[in-house]
Amino acid sequence: MAATNIEVWQQATVIETEDVATNIRRIVLAPALPKRAEPGSHLDLFVTIDGERHKRSYSVVDSTEDGSRVAISVLKAPLSRGGSIFMHTLQPGDALEITQPLQNFPLRIGAPRYVLLAGGIGLTAIVNMARVLKNLGANYTLVYAARTRERMAYLPELRALHGENLQVHIDDEGTALSVPDLVGSVDPSSELYMCGPIRLMDAVRRAWTERELPAPNLRFETFGNSGWYDPEEFIVRVPRLVVEARVPAGRSMLEALEDAGVEMMFDCRKGECGLCEVKVLALEGAIDHRDVFYSEREQHAAEKMCCCVSRAVTSPTGLAANAARGGPAIVTIGVS
Ligand code: FES
Repeated sequence: MAATNIEVWQQATVIETEDVATNIRRIVLAPALPKRAEPGSHLDLFVTIDGERHKRSYSVVDSTEDGSRVAISVLKAPLSRGGSIFMHTLQPGDALEITQPLQNFPLRIGAPRYVLLAGGIGLTAIVNMARVLKNLGANYTLVYAARTRERMAYLPELRALHGENLQVHIDDEGTALSVPDLVGSVDPSSELYMCGPIRLMDAVRRAWTERELPAPNLRFETFGNSGWYDPEEFIVRVPRLVVEARVPAGRSMLEALEDAGVEMMFDCRKGECGLCEVKVLALEGAIDHRDVFYSEREQHAAEKMCCCVSRAVTSPTGLAANAARGGPAIVTIGVS
C-alpha cells in the first residue's frame, strides 16, 4: 500500500473513551475531514502540557471504512512528559487538532507468510495490520507479548478474531517470548512487522542479522519512547554556544536545547531519521541510545546520538561510578 505523508490538519471531536486495559484508554475521534486509514497508519495531534502545545503520534487502532470514526489507544506512561496524561483527561465532546492518517509503516500485500510482533502498547501499530491480513486470508501469526495480562489491551477481541493465529506471551505467567525461537521460526520469504519496546526490537534486529535474513523483510514502527534504562535528569553542555541545560527525566535533550534557545535540526522526533544528530565531545556517564537510526556498532562507539530520544544516564547499571560521584550524568556535545 502506498505511503502517504502529506500532513492535513483538521479538527476532531472525541466521541467515545473507554479503558481497555490497566492505564490504556481507547479514544474514538470523529474528524472534520475524514480519510480512510490504511493499516500501519498513525495520527499526529497536539496535546497541551503546562499551557503549551506539543505534537504526539498515535497509531490508528481501527477506523470505519470512510474514516469518519478513528480509534487510537493511549498508554498512560508512568514517566510521561504529560502528553499521555492529557490524553487520558479527554472526554466525549472535547475537540482536538489532528492530522489525517499518515503512513510510514505500510503493510506490503502479497508475502507468503507474515509474522506480526507486538510488545505491550506496540500492539496499537500492529492490530489493524492483523485484521487486514485476516480479512485477506493471508498466512500470518500475530505474536503479542507483555509483562502482565492486565496490561494487554484487546486480548479477548484478538482471541475471538485471530484464534490459532494469535500467540500470547506473558512474562508474569512464565510464558515470556523467546526472541531466538521466534526469529528461528521465520523463513527467508516471510516478512516480520514489529512495534514494541526498544529492547525487544533490538533483540529481534540482532537475531535477524545473525540469521542473515533479508533486511527489507524486517519492518518496524517506533515512537521513540522507551530505552534501556529509566530516564533520569542529566546535564547537556554545548561549549561552542556557551550553553548548559538540565534535561529533566520527563523532557528530551532536544526539547531542553530548544528551551535554552539553541536552533536545532529535527524531523521525526522519534529516533528514526537521524536529523537531530549531535556529536558527543565528552561524557560523564553513559548514553542510553533510544533510536533506531544508528547501527549497533555506531551506538557502541558513543560518538554521536539522536538527541530527540537518546539520553545520558549515570552509568549503564544506574548504580556504580557516577552514583558514587553523586551528580547527574553530563554530556558535552557539538551541534552543527
Ligand atoms: S529528529 Fe529524527 S532522529 Fe531525531
